[in-house]
Amino acid sequence: MTTAFLNNAYVPLEQATISPMDRGFLFGDGIYEVIPSHYGRTIGINAHLQRMDAGLQELQIKNPFTKDKWVSVIDTLISKNREHLASDYIGVYLQITRGTQMTRGHAFPENITPTIFGYGFSLPAPPQCTIDQVAGLQVALEKDRRWERCHIKSTSLLGNVMHFEQGRAQGKQETILLNRNDEVTEASSCNVFVVHDNTIYTPALDYQLLPGITRQLVINSLAREGIDVVETAISKAMLLDAQEVWLTSSSKEITPVVSIAEHTVGTGMPGPVWQQAITLFNRYKFRLLKNPLF
Ligand code: PDD
Repeated sequence: MTTAFLNNAYVPLEQATISPMDRGFLFGDGIYEVIPSHYGRTIGINAHLQRMDAGLQELQIKNPFTKDKWVSVIDTLISKNREHLASDYIGVYLQITRGTQMTRGHAFPENITPTIFGYGFSLPAPPQCTIDQVAGLQVALEKDRRWERCHIKSTSLLGNVMHFEQGRAQGKQETILLNRNDEVTEASSCNVFVVHDNTIYTPALDYQLLPGITRQLVINSLAREGIDVVETAISKAMLLDAQEVWLTSSSKEITPVVSIAEHTVGTGMPGPVWQQAITLFNRYKFRLLKNPLF
């Protein structure tokens, strides 16, 4: 049985219940995180906890725990769920909502206690790291119709969920999104990288996209080898003219895209720059696994 963490107690997931008057349920008023772990060790935990803290600050929710306490909750959820899930790849989901109030109202209530929830789940195995073995993704391309606070990892995910479904309805596995200027923001649950004229690009961070931790780890792992990623606007034309396109996230790591809507990316096969990036990312990841508090 899956072990969950609810308001300071470890309980079977089936027994973890909250009030329907929780503001997370009523308003999507909360923050979440997904922290990957391999073989019992987390990847990028500091960065994930920093992003969570920044999101809580934006929502004016006081972080209920110290960093040490969060690390202990995450480690406990991994160790309690690893055997049960029979997987070396465990994701820890954390969610903090503003809390429960007995009268529904938009204003942030004073003296409210945040609801804290976490559980462990089985992540897919990391993508194969050779061109002939990795499964490339077929994705849709749509207008980004979400709000102007996409940098906050908020539980208000309906915009993302609807974009994901838009792709799925077209038989695609993800949806890449374009803003009003026809520039790439991100995908419904991943960041986007593009290889164009042998240079690697990713959209610069702003309110239009989540500052993905995997995105940052990819940039760091390439920088260690002297390879720059240019963080700038990526036009639709550049996306469709790219040699390679990749999606990054804690569960997908770096996964190549082979088609966008009806358009074939590059040769229609994952490319050599991806091959190099995943090799360097894996090398960097193993360093992080040895020093999980990065
Ligand atoms: N998704 N952009 C969006 C909109 C996301 O939801 C995610 C992550 C990312 C990549 O972020 P990271 O590299 O930190 O995982 C980018 C998570 C995994 C999810 O919602 O399940």
